[in-house]
Amino acid sequence: MSNKLFEASMKSLKRTKDITPIPDRSFDITINQHQVKATLGETLLSVLLATDHKRIMSNDHQRHSGAYCGMGVCHCCHVKVNEQFKQRACQTLVQPNMVVETLSNRFAEEGIK
Ligand code: FES
Repeated sequence: MSNKLFEASMKSLKRTKDITPIPDRSFDITINQHQVKATLGETLLSVLLATDHKRIMSNDHQRHSGAYCGMGVCHCCHVKVNEQFKQRACQTLVQPNMVVETLSNRFAEEGIK
């Protein structure tokens, strides 16, 4: 990817679905190469939903789905967090400088069939 293309893809995502405003002590995390404001104590799933990410998971059969239970049971919210595949977004608290990829698929990325 050229530098100009990369810089263009790094623009910030707007949080448009928050019920209450996020506090001032927010920090940036990266979701799909976009900077997003997040705050300590919230889950990654809340940030994904606030930025209108509904289909966040690609399963082993390349089918896309989104969070279902929101409490760690269904495993329908797997995302790649800091190079670790299959992290449950609903059970992951955001941390500064976290790098998240939605729709990642370990089998596809590692060439496993
Ligand atoms: S939404 Fe069910 S485990 Fe995360």
